[in-house]
Amino acid sequence: MRNPLRAAIRPNFQHPAMKSYHLTTFGCQMNEHDSERMKGMLESLGYREVAARDEADLILFNTCSIRESADNRFVAHLGEAKRLKGEDPARIVGVGGCWSQSMKERVFERFPFVDVAFGPGQIPKLAEFLTSDSLTAQGYFEFEGFSGHLPMKRAREFQGWVQISVGCNCNCAYCIVPSTRGREASRPPGELMIEIEGLAADGVREVTLLGQNVNSYGRDLPPEEKTTFAHLLAMVDAVEGIDRIRYTSPHPKDMREDVVRAHAELDALCEHIHLPLQSGSTPILKAMRRTYDRERYLDRVALIREHVPDCALTTDIIVGFPGESEEDFRLTLDVCEQVGYDGAFTFVFSPRRGTEAALITEGLVPHEVKIERMQRLVEVVQRRAHERAQRFVGRTLEVLVEGTSRTDPSRLRGRTRHNKAVNFTGLGQPGELVMVEIDRASSQTLSGSESLLARAGAA
Ligand code: 5AD
Ligand code: SF4
Repeated sequence: MRNPLRAAIRPNFQHPAMKSYHLTTFGCQMNEHDSERMKGMLESLGYREVAARDEADLILFNTCSIRESADNRFVAHLGEAKRLKGEDPARIVGVGGCWSQSMKERVFERFPFVDVAFGPGQIPKLAEFLTSDSLTAQGYFEFEGFSGHLPMKRAREFQGWVQISVGCNCNCAYCIVPSTRGREASRPPGELMIEIEGLAADGVREVTLLGQNVNSYGRDLPPEEKTTFAHLLAMVDAVEGIDRIRYTSPHPKDMREDVVRAHAELDALCEHIHLPLQSGSTPILKAMRRTYDRERYLDRVALIREHVPDCALTTDIIVGFPGESEEDFRLTLDVCEQVGYDGAFTFVFSPRRGTEAALITEGLVPHEVKIERMQRLVEVVQRRAHERAQRFVGRTLEVLVEGTSRTDPSRLRGRTRHNKAVNFTGLGQPGELVMVEIDRASSQTLSGSESLLARAGAA
């Protein structure tokens, strides 16, 4: 796996002190979190972050490969890195994450100017790659261990991500993740609690628990450490200073009553569940190997509504999976009408290398049909989200202030427990919980003004 070019162009890597780096992150929250660890690690090695790529000695990418569009976007960025490396061959170009893992050695074959390439499981080894004398740094091994002990540079001091598991044991026919992030492994609860207590002591008041399938958390732990996800939620809820708990993503097949009840019972657990649907048609769900059917999914929604009537529900939907007929698609639209999601991420099916669905040759949905279905889907999703959001108008909601509004600097921006973005007039500081009277609601955002009378109870 050694890249022969490396020896020729490798700069003096033993003394990286005061070198600068620029890191671009693509993909999901798991990647955002991995990037915080990479940054923490680089800074502990003496690197400092710079805002512009052309000022950096080390140009790093944390990549995603979930859809073809993610690949294409990244390859354009890589083109710029190539140009910058051409201008100054001492620059180091590093590529981590899922795209890198899914390409493995081909990264070096196709992009010989890349110096360091590694998969998502190798973050703990990044320092070793960068300081190693024999820097060829191809790190496509099995999962090397959690990065929980690594330093972390958080984007916001009052919000923290906590990785509770890695990998995924599902076999969704469309998904590249099991091949990029490996088999599922849960972190021991004791280790997680130490990390979360540390975050709370550090001023974090909102934590997001991350896993590819959070509901199956703990099943692989040895008997003395066995913990269910619901139990873990209760333990996190008990941590002094943690006012909000979120998690992503659950899998509908594993969503049990204990977790749904936890939303009603635990003060800190937010009233929002992201429950990926993918399709509303049972035959398509079967072809996707989702292992639940339309009825089971709707039954999970009913259970959530029964215990937490006001719970916000969001989802992921794929249109144009091979074999999806107009009737199948209408069943998806019908679920969206019935559930009335507060928001949805909608994707056009894109075949990914190495996945089962990429091998299907029959029943492929023509591009124009996919686009037309996507437009119809977005119309339903947005209309229902707009309708659902009206329930907030006239209410006073607890908002965690994140900063100033992106569109109007005289206003503030934050999020409700339902994970709705709010733009509002007020005096709150980033990281504070304030109460906001909501006067307008669209499918995406709420608008209002801080109530100086109502006090935000510490959630
Ligand atoms: N094509 C389109 N969308 C996909 N997703 C995952 N793989 C694919 C694919 N090959 C979507 C799913 C998943 C979300 C993170 O990305 O909806 O839940
Ligand atoms: Fe995240 Fe999946 Fe993209 Fe990897 S491929 S970064 S797990 S969305």
